[in-house]
Amino acid sequence: MAFVEKYRPAVVLLDLGLPPDPDGTTEGFAILNEILSITPDTKIIVASGHGARESAIRAISEGAYDFYQKPVDADEIGFIVDRAFRLYDLEQENKKLQQREETTRLPGLVTASEQMEQVCSVIERVSPTSVSVLLLGGSGTGKELLARALHDLSDRNNMPFVAINCGAIPENLIESELFGFEKGAFTGAMKQVKGKIELAEGGTLFLDEIGDLPLPLQVKLLRFLQERVIERIGGRKEIPVDVRVISATHQRLEDQITDGRFREDLFYRLSEIVVNIPDLKDRDGDALLLAHNFLNKFSRAYDKRAKSFDKDAARAIASYDWPGNVRELENRIKRAVIMSDSKKITLDDLEIDYSDDHIETLNLKEIREKNDKAAMLKALSLTNGNISETARLLGISRPTFYGLVKQYDLNIDK
Ligand SMILES: Nc1ncnc2c1ncn2[C@@H]1O[C@H](COP(=O)(O)OP(=O)(O)OP(=O)(O)O)[C@@H](O)[C@H]1O
Ligand SMILES: [Mg+2]
Repeated sequence: MAFVEKYRPAVVLLDLGLPPDPDGTTEGFAILNEILSITPDTKIIVASGHGARESAIRAISEGAYDFYQKPVDADEIGFIVDRAFRLYDLEQENKKLQQREETTRLPGLVTASEQMEQVCSVIERVSPTSVSVLLLGGSGTGKELLARALHDLSDRNNMPFVAINCGAIPENLIESELFGFEKGAFTGAMKQVKGKIELAEGGTLFLDEIGDLPLPLQVKLLRFLQERVIERIGGRKEIPVDVRVISATHQRLEDQITDGRFREDLFYRLSEIVVNIPDLKDRDGDALLLAHNFLNKFSRAYDKRAKSFDKDAARAIASYDWPGNVRELENRIKRAVIMSDSKKITLDDLEIDYSDDHIETLNLKEIREKNDKAAMLKALSLTNGNISETARLLGISRPTFYGLVKQYDLNIDK
């Protein structure tokens, strides 16, 4: 079994008659099942004694790949083993293909978490339609990546994807950015310029940081979304435009609406479908998966040796809060790869501010102790410090309670 765990063999030849039961099959079947529980893909070929057809058939029904009857015929067993290897290789190949498909369903998006899977399936489902999608997520959670994925998966994907960052453009320029202007519309308007909305004709318009759009512009955008026509600044013509609108923000739009900083009617126009993108720290297992992806990408791009993370670095990646989400992770890994000259990235390379309470402990004793303490303090406060009551709530006796107080060094007088 130690070998099985270490080498995860493609093919195993297994005699059912094993000590301590060499004449029976109990040990053989136990091993068969144990191997399959560790490496379910392993092809196990069972050797059965003369006239033991029944156990051979039972072995197959329990997951063995094939059997042969003793005495061994070298040609026959060679043939069976070859075939087992071939099947194993095929299955592995198939598995890889499937996994590859899973990671590229949304182009460029890496995830293995259930939380993001849900997001992905919404994106896939709405991409063929032209409904407006509002992406809500913290900074660096992948809003732009998902907006592009929506576009790439839609049948508008051979038409333009035009992004405009409403937070990065000075207020007096946003209107001309969005709607364009005619020659002579204002001083300096030397020629006609099309706006982003018009440039996205037939494709997708991505309004990033929509929460930062000034109110007067919100009115104009709303009008466009209702009428689906624009007028260039200084122009007199209404120009129909067919675009799919995706918007994104890290702000809480409900609050902005309450404060009168965002128009409710515009919100409803933009949010036919709302997608909430979870923070990286809330995606199970994704931080490490992404970290490995970025590590591979950057060590190739910068021709560096770094191939893996050492244990502390991996632990820190998995337990750090990642306030800047995927963008922060990407930047830290990039810097670490560039700065490091060794094969393993260390905690120092990552420059993560890593205090002990960031690290999730998996030590059961520590976890129990922490939970015990929390429950005891809570029970004490619920009973205003009445010890008998507290012990009763906790389901333990008074002496046990005092024993724990001493063990955990709790100050219960306070
Ligand atoms: N799930 C993911 N898999 C792979 N790369 C990702 C993923 N999510 C984000 N990224 C990468 O992280 C970076 C930040 O993503 P993106 O720009 O889409 O986020 P954002 O939410 O728009 O960020 P910001 O709030 O800073 O504008 C990009 O380089 C993007 O490619
Ligand atoms: Mg962005």
